[in-house]
Amino acid sequence: MAEVVIVRDEAEAGELVASAIVELVERRPDAVLGLATGSTPLSTYRALARRLADEGAPDVARVRGFALDEYVGLPSGHPESYRAVIAREVVEPLGLTPELVHVPNGEPETIRTAADDYERAIQAAGGVDLQILGIGRTGHIGFNEPGSSLASLTRVKTLTEETRADNARFFDSPDDVPMHCITQGIGTILRARHLVLLAFGEAKSQAVADAVEGPLSASRPGSAIQLHPHATVVLDEAAASRL
Ligand code: GLP
Repeated sequence: MAEVVIVRDEAEAGELVASAIVELVERRPDAVLGLATGSTPLSTYRALARRLADEGAPDVARVRGFALDEYVGLPSGHPESYRAVIAREVVEPLGLTPELVHVPNGEPETIRTAADDYERAIQAAGGVDLQILGIGRTGHIGFNEPGSSLASLTRVKTLTEETRADNARFFDSPDDVPMHCITQGIGTILRARHLVLLAFGEAKSQAVADAVEGPLSASRPGSAIQLHPHATVVLDEAAASRL
């Protein structure tokens, strides 16, 4: 069973996960971080940026990163593409080396090979040391919506209407939310050496209960964390309320 840590609020969760990342980078200056997008990991990235600005903080110039997922078909440079979000929320504030941080390529022209290329790049880097995860209301991790094989690797998927509606807040109009994405598979995510799943708020409580305590099922992609020998789940009281 995953280790569940209940904290007061998002800020405390951010401090906790930032400490784990600082310790990892102290041990392993070229650590490989698995990066999630969405609003959930923002308090972690902000806390980490503050910690890295402290005197005596480890040098992150050699730290590598792999994002979980990307939309397919957004115009290049779109501010809500995960490439742009990772640059803005992670690479710049933390001072990572841009060339060492990867995001799946969501350009339709190269999409046929992009997934296999990404999978190979993660393996070539030696795999992910610490994977940050959020969870969607549908129970998705990365963009692995219900029905995703628990052994799946990086591939193109269709977003559910519920996820498109949830993510519409980042776009001018709901119709602008892409229909497709490229995402690390559940099997890819499970290869990371440490999973850290964060969730905040009542709206996530059912997805969290299904992930942590529900039966292992492809209809509850988050439940795959039960297969992992080292998974930590960091929740506020509201997200933990159905455990
Ligand atoms: C998004 C991302 C996921 C994220 C989840 C929750 O669509 N693809 O990686 O974990 O949905 O998002 P949020 O953290 O904004 O609630």
